[in-house]
Amino acid sequence: MKLAVLTSGGDSAGMSAVVRAVVKAGILSGCETWIVREGYEGLVRGNTDTQIPPTIEEPFADPAARQRVRSGKATNLVENLRFGDGDLLRDGTGDHARGRTLKGRYIVRAGWDDVRGWFAEGGTLIGTARSKTFRTPAGRLAAAYNLIKEGIDALVVCGGDGSLTGADLFRSEWPSFVTTLHSEGKITDEQLSKHGHLRIVGLVGSIDNDMSLTDLTIGAPTALHRICEAIDNINSTAASHSRAFVLEVMGRHCGWLALLAGVSAGADFIFIPERPPQTDSWEDEMCDAIQMHREVGKRKTLVIVAEGAHDSNLKPIRADYVRDVLTERLGLDSRVTTLGHIQRGGRPCAYDRILPTLQGIEAVKAVLEATPDTPSYMIGVSENKITRVPLMEAVAMTRAVADAIAAKDFAKAMSLRDPEFLQ
Ligand code: F6P
Repeated sequence: MKLAVLTSGGDSAGMSAVVRAVVKAGILSGCETWIVREGYEGLVRGNTDTQIPPTIEEPFADPAARQRVRSGKATNLVENLRFGDGDLLRDGTGDHARGRTLKGRYIVRAGWDDVRGWFAEGGTLIGTARSKTFRTPAGRLAAAYNLIKEGIDALVVCGGDGSLTGADLFRSEWPSFVTTLHSEGKITDEQLSKHGHLRIVGLVGSIDNDMSLTDLTIGAPTALHRICEAIDNINSTAASHSRAFVLEVMGRHCGWLALLAGVSAGADFIFIPERPPQTDSWEDEMCDAIQMHREVGKRKTLVIVAEGAHDSNLKPIRADYVRDVLTERLGLDSRVTTLGHIQRGGRPCAYDRILPTLQGIEAVKAVLEATPDTPSYMIGVSENKITRVPLMEAVAMTRAVADAIAAKDFAKAMSLRDPEFLQ
């Protein structure tokens, strides 16, 4: 079997470890393994430069290869990713190598040696994108053609709920794409009979931990750790000056990062999208709590605001406004810190290496066992066990949380998350 892996949507720590695990588990299971660069965009673009043969040389230890990359004459993934997008990027000359050598090739063979050490890499070394073209039927038809051209019939996708929904849709449309491509004379009779069914498995990469039917998403533990470290740093300066800090963390529809950071690092007040303040006068509620903490001797104040936080009327709660309330009502010297992408980037923590490794292995097993009748699976983790759940069930439940929030049914939103933990 020819098996490809891609990463899609916002990056998260551990995505490179997913690629490593899928490539290695795939090879051990007898598959020919491929990577798709730049997410679904790479699938749509495919390989236009047929001059570069999709061969791999491994193990690779040839100093002359490094020279080939530097001169723009590299011929394979080992050279391009390791010495092009990998080492050369790190020493600041990567654009030179990358721009020229992988141009025109988005679907590329990957071998054992290519992904060595990728468990420790931040983000995703094979690139990611939010592809607009893949959202169109024409884009997905082009993607099907590009995969069939390379003989690939199995795809592991690591991304958020939008990326996994795209994977399931692509799979369901596949048979009609194959028929169309055949009737247009783009694929042969043999390709038609060989590629009647696309095997798809999803892994969830998202720092927000916003997918239902799994306890943790890949990248969330690292992001949480990053936030905790930032709070530790803020705490020392806050306590020195007896100041208040309002910290904005990521989480468009999900308050997991804000909530868990608050628990881990001792916040005075937390705003999350799923459970807005119960009263319209949340300012009073927050000030009363903080005042009480100050009265019992706290020298610093920390309020955490998830980026998607709002009041019970869905009016966004902004960090700047919270700071002004603290300043004006409590007379506190207050500052805002927005962590931004610092919480998304950087090396994965240990669990964001372990989880992608175990889930990547399971994804390969699931893809090998897939039949036209089995649903597209998402690999999750539940009570520390790696699980397989129907991908669209997880997506539907995730969407139901967002719908419940939009309908101001916060009790339902909470019950759809993790009721036991969050209540
Ligand atoms: O990965 C999800 C997320 O972290 C959200 O919390 C945030 O709103 C978004 O990504 C920002 O992503 P980008 O800057 O790539 O648009």
